[in-house]
Amino acid sequence: MSSAPQCLSPPSAAEAFGEHLVSVLNHGALCLTLSIGHRTGLFDHMRDRPPATSGEIAAAAGLNERYVREWLGAMATGGIVKVDADGPRFALPAEHAACLTRAAAADNLAVFAQYIGLLGGVEDTIVAKFRTGGGVGYEHYTRFHEVMAEDSGQSVLSSLESDILPLVPGLTDHLERGIQVLDIGCGSGRILNQLATLYPHSRFTGLDLSTEAIERARAETRATGLGNVEFIQADAAELDRHVAAQQFALITTFDAIHDQADPLGVLTGIHRALESEGIYLMQDIRGSGQIHGDLEHPLGPFLYTISCMHCMPVSLARGGPGLGAMWGDPRARDYLERAGFHDIRVHQLVHDPQNNWYVATR
Ligand SMILES: C[S@@+](CC[C@H](N)C(=O)[O-])C[C@H]1O[C@@H](n2cnc3c(N)ncnc32)[C@H](O)[C@@H]1O
Repeated sequence: MSSAPQCLSPPSAAEAFGEHLVSVLNHGALCLTLSIGHRTGLFDHMRDRPPATSGEIAAAAGLNERYVREWLGAMATGGIVKVDADGPRFALPAEHAACLTRAAAADNLAVFAQYIGLLGGVEDTIVAKFRTGGGVGYEHYTRFHEVMAEDSGQSVLSSLESDILPLVPGLTDHLERGIQVLDIGCGSGRILNQLATLYPHSRFTGLDLSTEAIERARAETRATGLGNVEFIQADAAELDRHVAAQQFALITTFDAIHDQADPLGVLTGIHRALESEGIYLMQDIRGSGQIHGDLEHPLGPFLYTISCMHCMPVSLARGGPGLGAMWGDPRARDYLERAGFHDIRVHQLVHDPQNNWYVATR
């Protein structure tokens, strides 16, 4: 690993690429230990604490010292925590805690590191599909709904009132007065429960294929005592079996169209379920639609990897086209137009390089 591969490229280019790959190995490994730091609460315990030994950190977090010490080795050599030789003692700098702890709220990047371990859990299955083709069903992805809820709980909930709802002119006034809202592919329902809390005069319906997701959503609704939200476990491709035509003033999907088995059918159903001039708000992954157009995408490798190992296979598993997360803006607009929408506007939020926000009128 220390010597760069000898190949046809000039040695300096090969060496530089070898160094790049070593960095990739280190950072890939760090994603797993960042995820562990998040899940065990170690980052939270180290926040705002003076330098401490592995024993003191393990005791504060209620964890096994030997494991914590080895984890600290990865964190220290990876530049995540500082170490001094006295003890040795370890500290999480405040500027690192600002990106790694639950107190960091929307800026906690450790949440996203969890996807790497989650996808590692299906690697054998995906490798087999590279040979045979076909898809991998949602049920194979352990912790998917848990991690997804944390992901959108940060990336969407944190900016729902400040940035997302204002994308639709006049929407908050309508929500205040009382309208019917449907969220498709609602997952664990955190976004809808939040909206239901904010707007008690409106009625909210969430729909998701996953029993686990719907149970999680209903549990949160019960815990908060909300009376204006319901969750339906159903296939969005059969929307008209569950909701009436022209029933809703607003329908939303958050990261839930590109991995559908029947994306056009779902979009057409959404169009049908909207009242005249009703609004469809679609958050979906930002991509150019061409691999060579995504080379400068700040999250390109991350999103293509998630797509290859999750978004595409879950669609293929149900006989879908496997559009993939990076289906791209031109294709997204084309699908919206074919479903019947007009006045399709696409917005980008400064804090969110991952998504496009489409506002389309029925
Ligand atoms: C990427 S997750 C997004 C979840 C949620 N919107 C969020 O942002 O947290 C996609 C969701 O769509 C759901 N889904 C996929 N296909 C579906 C279908 N045909 N009908 C209903 N839900 C579906 C999945 O179960 C999953 O919860």
